[in-house]
Amino acid sequence: MPSCSSPKVSFIDQAPARESFADAVLAGLGRRPRTLPAKFFYDRAGSELFDRITDLPEYYPTRTEIGILRQEAPRLARMIGPGAQLIEFGAGSLAKVRLILSALEAPEGFTAIDISGSHLKAAAEELARDYPQVPIAALCADYTRPLTLPEPLASSSARRVGFFPGSTIGNFEPDAAVDFLATVHPIFEPRGLFIVGVDLKKDRATLEAAYNDSAGVTAAFNLNMLERINRELEGNFALERFRHRAFYNEEKGRIEMHLVSLADQVVSVAGRTFSFRKGESIHTESSYKYAIGEFQSLAARAGWLPAGVLTDPENLFSLHLLKTG
Ligand code: AVI
Repeated sequence: MPSCSSPKVSFIDQAPARESFADAVLAGLGRRPRTLPAKFFYDRAGSELFDRITDLPEYYPTRTEIGILRQEAPRLARMIGPGAQLIEFGAGSLAKVRLILSALEAPEGFTAIDISGSHLKAAAEELARDYPQVPIAALCADYTRPLTLPEPLASSSARRVGFFPGSTIGNFEPDAAVDFLATVHPIFEPRGLFIVGVDLKKDRATLEAAYNDSAGVTAAFNLNMLERINRELEGNFALERFRHRAFYNEEKGRIEMHLVSLADQVVSVAGRTFSFRKGESIHTESSYKYAIGEFQSLAARAGWLPAGVLTDPENLFSLHLLKTG
């Protein structure tokens, strides 16, 4: 396993296998209903658009979760105790974990895990500059599969505390969310904790506004999937012939994002053609919302016990504390 260290960050590349964009797109466009996997939103342009989404007035999850962390970090730190090993899954900018790290008493280390190595390494190095007293590791791995923890984390007897913010777990189908929580459970035994950010169910208007912002950034984020196909897979999607649609599917408890064909049309991708009828849609993302009890039941299916829930005064967002038992 290649491993190299900058002065402050140990970088471990476990060379995770990646699903090919081409295979996923051809399979997804070929099935009914048509789908494109949300994980492919995040090329460079998509990641920049997502950063803009998190600052939008309608998109409440990011600022609300940060508000909860600011408010509750001292309480979280007391519950975690001194000398813990903190592990973040799907680490993006590593901005939120700073609020926890700053409150913790003498953390033994911090490990960020992500499938995208270059971005991860840069974010971890920036963090290391601001927390020189904390040993920081960046692990390039697919955290939805059983993980081999690197040393010295693997043989440390410190309490392990997971962090999975942003309601990214809401982008998993519920069964896949249970699988993920069950897959990571063994690495936290014994005495481990898991802090999971989960968007709460709420009124339809607030939910739908968050995914239909007036500046059109979410629409651009959704349509960027077609641009990415054009750029990388010799696609010829005419972007003006598709429109962004996002709505709350109350029965399933999820926001659905779609790209709807505005005309009967034929599109080619990587040498294959796909016919669309006017009004036909491609389902690009689901974002599940969970009441507190619903998420606790889901986590229980993966062996996690509730250890507390933190929310904001408007009950928009929740941070679940789970314990291994
Ligand atoms: C990353 N994820 C939690 C976002 C969400 O709210 O489901 C992705 C997103 N899609 C559109 N806006 C934001």
